[in-house]
Amino acid sequence: MSDNKTVEKPWTGRFSEPTNAFVEAFGASVGFDQRMYKQDIQGSIAHARMLTKVGVLTEEERDAIIRGLTNIEAEIQAGDFPWSIALEDVHMNIEKRLTDMIGDAGKKLHTGRSRNDQVATDVRLYLRDEIDAAITPELKRLQLALIELAGREADTIMPGFTHLQTAQPITFGHHMLAWNEMLQRDSERLMDCRKRVNIMPLGSAALAGTTYPIDREFTAKELGFDMPGRNSLDGVSDRDFAIEFLSWASLLLMHMSRFSEELILWSSSQFDWVDLGDAFCTGSSIMPQKKNPDVPELVRGKTGRVFGSLSAMLMIMKGQPLAYNKDNQEDKEPLFDAIDTVKGCLKVYADMMAQIKLKRDNMREAALRGFSTATDLADYLVRNGVPFRDAHEVVGKAVALGVETKRDLSEMSLEELQGFSDAIKNDVFEFLTLEGSVAARDHIGGTAPGRVREAAELAKAMMEIERL
Ligand code: ARG
Repeated sequence: MSDNKTVEKPWTGRFSEPTNAFVEAFGASVGFDQRMYKQDIQGSIAHARMLTKVGVLTEEERDAIIRGLTNIEAEIQAGDFPWSIALEDVHMNIEKRLTDMIGDAGKKLHTGRSRNDQVATDVRLYLRDEIDAAITPELKRLQLALIELAGREADTIMPGFTHLQTAQPITFGHHMLAWNEMLQRDSERLMDCRKRVNIMPLGSAALAGTTYPIDREFTAKELGFDMPGRNSLDGVSDRDFAIEFLSWASLLLMHMSRFSEELILWSSSQFDWVDLGDAFCTGSSIMPQKKNPDVPELVRGKTGRVFGSLSAMLMIMKGQPLAYNKDNQEDKEPLFDAIDTVKGCLKVYADMMAQIKLKRDNMREAALRGFSTATDLADYLVRNGVPFRDAHEVVGKAVALGVETKRDLSEMSLEELQGFSDAIKNDVFEFLTLEGSVAARDHIGGTAPGRVREAAELAKAMMEIERL
């Protein structure tokens, strides 16, 4: 990056002293906003086409601008572009370079627009591109990995928890589909957020609109926006779309952090239910036995970073009067950081979940501990005529005996069980098994293997419909 003092800024007309050297570096955003160069060029080309359509630029000028911008794009991609801090941001760097390349036609490009509507347009285009090309596909890939795993593991039994205490047996597939429900809501929310991202600020100019006969419908169409924004003041100053995206990202990461917490627990030697795969874990430099679940730990940690970005963005906006203020330049780093973080977390999770290995025997054994079929025994008694509260009491006593003698309910003899209630018959063991317990929860949203398989198929079909 050069900070060449001989670079002439495009706004020096009313100034008699040069910018303080530190202020120049302090105020520059080019270090982080140059990642929007494609969108900046795309926006400028659409603007030039529109200006030609309404008679402000000639066709020759337009063609020279488009050629110049195309060359600049190639220069940037090749790493040959002379970025300059003195030119502050990606917008002025590109515009200045264009003028140096093609002369006067380049100077006309900024007719009828301002950096205020230009930057707001670029950020929206950038975010929309990331949502469409990277975030949505990665999210879908993770969902598919979970749904497929759920289908494969529809019969795999594990203990379900409440209060992190063994509650009732569930199937691993059911658990994966619970995660998928969260992600499905996230996916729907993202599509909703995109509607408000895809509104075009261009044409708002500095704040009040412009005196040129611009055709905003034309530019919006060229850029794939759903419509031009309805109010120019709002157009240049609104960053709700970024806040909305960051809120979305926070919800997603909150979900992923919960998954992470579970995976970390499940891969501990105390649980030992899953193997995340060597490719997704690291060792310790001192303890030779260690295989650490770095990926879920990092994702849990990165959640804080995304929440921080949401918080930063809300604080950046809360004190700003209309319309544009330089404060808005601070929108980019939290937004870009959240985009990168979300993409990384989704990618690594989609890859990891596609190859996770389960230790089914350990899960099953864990489900046998902790009296996970106690509710089934109570339900059995109710079916045999015992009021639920009495049944609860009877089973509580049986559990107390189990705790004392270190045995599961299914390990007691029929006589022992009948000692607690004469409503217990010799068919009771069918209901005390793990398989019997999960199979009995056979309704929409239940954990019965048949229902889980059905739910996995439905979830997959829903995703295919969305893709159409
Ligand atoms: N770099 C600025 C930003 O990110 C671009 C807009 C500057 N506009 C202005 N009036 N100084 O917001």
